[in-house]
Amino acid sequence: PAKPVVILGLFNADAVYRAARQPKLGETVMGQDFRLEPGGKGSNQAVAAARASGGPAVHFITRLGRDDFARLARGVWQNAGVIPEVTEDAQSHTGSAFIFIEAATGNNAIIVAPGAGGRIGPEDLDARADLIRGAAVFVTQLEQPLAAARRGLEIARAGGVTTILNPAPAAALDDDLLALCDYITPNESEAELLTGLPVSSLPEAEAAADALLARGVGAVVVTLGANGVLFRDRHRSLHVPVVRVGEVVETTGAGDAFNGGFALALAEGRSVDEALRFGNATAGLSVTGPGAASAMPARAEIDRLLASSG
Ligand code: RIB
Ligand code: NA
Repeated sequence: PAKPVVILGLFNADAVYRAARQPKLGETVMGQDFRLEPGGKGSNQAVAAARASGGPAVHFITRLGRDDFARLARGVWQNAGVIPEVTEDAQSHTGSAFIFIEAATGNNAIIVAPGAGGRIGPEDLDARADLIRGAAVFVTQLEQPLAAARRGLEIARAGGVTTILNPAPAAALDDDLLALCDYITPNESEAELLTGLPVSSLPEAEAAADALLARGVGAVVVTLGANGVLFRDRHRSLHVPVVRVGEVVETTGAGDAFNGGFALALAEGRSVDEALRFGNATAGLSVTGPGAASAMPARAEIDRLLASSG
């Protein structure tokens, strides 16, 4: 059987408010609608990968509290086919996120309260070392403590597993950590924060990628929103434009869709170029529906889009 994808990160219950604009301090603004949605970058990526999978199993390592949001998480994973690797933590609540959606653009601003997810530690990774070592691909983001991300990357690297770091939200990273990453997948603002360089054009994204390559990562994928992705390693650059699918409804989780699809495609043994296109197609489809995890496309939709876009 195919080796699995193992993803570390947070589940959050996303409380999503759509409004014309954000309130200022001291102000109350009336919103247009509210939804409670499954989210969390790691969980979104796991759901994307599982829904996209034509074979590899997808395991998700996290912590949950003992509350209603934990039940929401388990239901979502069960529907998507994600295999939970959960430590229950009675000391805290399940992760939760406040998400403001700007009605006119669908763009978002987010506050994450990680709760139990903020208590994920290296021991959670040590307890699943065999699972990680047996994976095709290991993925983490930075919503849980950095020490946990580091331990996961270390175990994966020692086992010859392909490693992906989605540096979201952006944090200062040392060169030892960067050297553990086969791929790092920042968006534009994360690439700016990581390098101190401006990233608002393809040449600028290339320069930022070079700075990260010089610090030891294997390859850089800068996700550029509506402009697709820029791949760069020591040998070449490749710009993969976005696949246009339909009206953009909500971009929350689009980066997660890319990461989940990209990781899954690598686990299926596709080339990097094919995996970039697969990730892009996954992200392009995800923005046509409301919510983050709820909008992750099924494999058949991705295959159809890839077939029609050549
Ligand atoms: O990437 C989108 C996600 O970021 C949301 O689902 C929210 O939970 C935050 O983690
Ligand atoms: Na969406």
